[in-house]
Amino acid sequence: MVNIVQFGVGNVGNELVNQVGELNSAEIRYVSIGNSKISKIDIRGLDLGGGDFQNLAAPGTTADWSKVFDKVGDLDNVVMVDVTAQDWIEPHLEALSRGWKIVLANKKPLVKEWSVSKVLFNNNDVRFEATVGAGLPIIQTLKGIIESGDEVKEINGAFSGTLGYITTELHEGKSFSEALASAIKKGYTEPNPLDDLDGMDVARKALILSRLIGREENMEDLKVNGLVNRRKYENLETREFIKISKDLDGEFKVKVKDVEDSNKVLKFVAHIGKKTLINLSSIEAKSSLGQLKGVNNLAEITTSHYSDDPLVISGPGAGKEVTANGVLRDILSFVQ
Ligand SMILES: NC(=O)c1ccc[n+]([C@@H]2O[C@H](COP(=O)([O-])OP(=O)(O)OC[C@H]3O[C@@H](n4cnc5c(N)ncnc54)[C@H](OP(=O)(O)O)[C@@H]3O)[C@@H](O)[C@H]2O)c1
Repeated sequence: MVNIVQFGVGNVGNELVNQVGELNSAEIRYVSIGNSKISKIDIRGLDLGGGDFQNLAAPGTTADWSKVFDKVGDLDNVVMVDVTAQDWIEPHLEALSRGWKIVLANKKPLVKEWSVSKVLFNNNDVRFEATVGAGLPIIQTLKGIIESGDEVKEINGAFSGTLGYITTELHEGKSFSEALASAIKKGYTEPNPLDDLDGMDVARKALILSRLIGREENMEDLKVNGLVNRRKYENLETREFIKISKDLDGEFKVKVKDVEDSNKVLKFVAHIGKKTLINLSSIEAKSSLGQLKGVNNLAEITTSHYSDDPLVISGPGAGKEVTANGVLRDILSFVQ
């Protein structure tokens, strides 16, 4: 049986509690759960269905991770679950030193300087499937390929639902500003759409994959060209940026026409090969990546064995249900 210490009860964290509840397994027990303000801890086991979770605001609890760790003490078979978006790694280092396992949906601890984050890679006590492609089995597949002695030559992938949606809409005849407005309306973008358009979220995912396949890269080693140049718009309010996004319509119209004339399509792609490149690319329309539509993610993995036809993994790459399910599968992998 595993004892869960969960940090984060937002979209993914909440859904994870529901899925663990539905699974109703005697092999998984919550001992701590918390958000940025408060934690609920009981090392004899929390009854999340019975109100402990709903009463998260009850007094006498703490959100400070080190106090949570102290209260959990020397309990065996602990799995720390990080479903926050915190830029931290200290709790993870402490968890490992206590012999705990770790499951992450949070990318941030994995993309610090290599010297800091490396302890989380090639470590049997750490799982992070949901950090790339949400619930898609991309990381598990790559690990299996490497463990079997096959060699990963390159990975090409579309790992942003928002940018996938915008590029699909461009080829459906929408202007850039219309495609952006529609992505915002559907709730696909971050509150500030530049956080999607600058390509950095894709870069974090690419760095995780690159490190996973053995490259000791840092963020500054990656070549990242966002869909738009963030620096140009950095000082604008989100509202103002959306208004002037019309100025980019002409530029994107030309790009779309150019690639369509040669039977290609635009995709925002992470390429992990000799170098790691993240940019808007022209892709053969008939390829798997070229046929990808909307918010779905896709990874094309070329290995020594999958050399002529790459191995392709594709499907929804965001959303609380599939993400929480990826986290749950990682937790279950620790159940003895
Ligand atoms: N949503 C998706 O489709 C998806 C897909 C793949 C990966 N992810 C990743 O999954 C993670 C969670 O995403 P989300 O959508 O669930 O985010 P969210 O709704 O913003 O939830 C974040 C949670 O983390 C909590 N938190 C923040 N700082 C904390 C701290 N110091 N200690 C404990 N809890 C803390 C927040 O508490 P407060 O409410 O008190 O601030 C909140 O409960 C992110 O890293 C995201 O990138 C999400």
